[in-house]
Amino acid sequence: MKAMQIAQNIYWVGAIDWNLRNFHGYETEKGTTYNAYLVLDEKITLIDTVKEGFFGEMLERIRSVVDPEKIDIIVSNHAEPDHSGCLPAIAKIAKNAKIYTAAPAGIKNLTAYYGDLGYIGVKAGDSLPLGAQTLTFVPTPMVHWPDNMVSFLTPANILFSNDAFGQHYASDERTDSECDLPEAYIQARKYYANIVQPYGMQTGKALAACADLPIQTICPSHGIVWTKHIPDIVNLYKSWVANEQDDTAIIVYDTMWHSTESMAHAIENAFLACGLKPRLYNLHYCHNSDIIADAMTSRFIAVGSPTLNNTMMPSVASFLTYFKGLNGNKKKFIAFGSYGWGGQSPDQVFEALSACKCEPLLPAIKLTFKPSKEQLDKITDDVVSALQK
Ligand code: FEO
Repeated sequence: MKAMQIAQNIYWVGAIDWNLRNFHGYETEKGTTYNAYLVLDEKITLIDTVKEGFFGEMLERIRSVVDPEKIDIIVSNHAEPDHSGCLPAIAKIAKNAKIYTAAPAGIKNLTAYYGDLGYIGVKAGDSLPLGAQTLTFVPTPMVHWPDNMVSFLTPANILFSNDAFGQHYASDERTDSECDLPEAYIQARKYYANIVQPYGMQTGKALAACADLPIQTICPSHGIVWTKHIPDIVNLYKSWVANEQDDTAIIVYDTMWHSTESMAHAIENAFLACGLKPRLYNLHYCHNSDIIADAMTSRFIAVGSPTLNNTMMPSVASFLTYFKGLNGNKKKFIAFGSYGWGGQSPDQVFEALSACKCEPLLPAIKLTFKPSKEQLDKITDDVVSALQK
């Protein structure tokens, strides 16, 4: 395994995790990469490491261009273990390397994971001359942990952006000019929705802090490197941070005997009648993290559950828990569901969505047993009326 050159004297020395399928409940159907970068200069500098278990791969890639014992500087842009997991192992080999991280959060979090490795704290605007190149640090707290920062390398004008602009996308192609670009955008959107979305305000501040940098290359900590399509990915981030919405309407449900499903279709008909683009997700088949990616920019969300043992179905509770933690884009909601007796679930869904920065479009919709055509038509009419108000 060899290092891959990004620019003159700058290499990708990370690891490709082709088999990762779950990252904290986020389905990573395309695997991922853990990106570490090596700058060859008077001071040989390693930027971030890789997840524990991938040390051999990173070391082999470093060795293909330099003796790892000669590394002088290690920069930790983020303490999460998928980027810092091999910090102790590489520090053991690069015995004289100094480790730079954000002060105070990076020092605190790395110490909690690995003990005191002699970290040196850096603050906004601090610079580190490497020889011909200089690194400047910009803290980006909460994009995605308190310790996140980005590093900007001049005169190559490379932004090591850590979690920002990343994608869970395993690929042997390293840049946006070589890879499957539509897939990279799909995965960048899913990554933002599932990792960065709750921190939109902080991401907006990070974008503002980097706005004046003459960025020529963006090297994130996951996925491909952005070279040719920087304005496009930056503009996408700006639209996500601004909570821009499209004309889609998300309908998420589970069903026992297809009654709640028939209500979902009645709501679909209402959205269609009002010129919206409904998207249906049966939780029996669809993963929370895919729904979140589509829900991020939708104007409406409808969530339905039959009543099972006096409560909503566990699949719906799981989705609502995941949605509550991530939703950053206010939208109007509909809660609905069928029941035989009891009938608690639609109100429970209503209450859960009310706690998700969403506003009700109309009261919870409930029907017993198998809805008739007239009842379903009434749902469509009621939702159309509410949408037209
Ligand atoms: Fe890939 Fe927040 O780390």
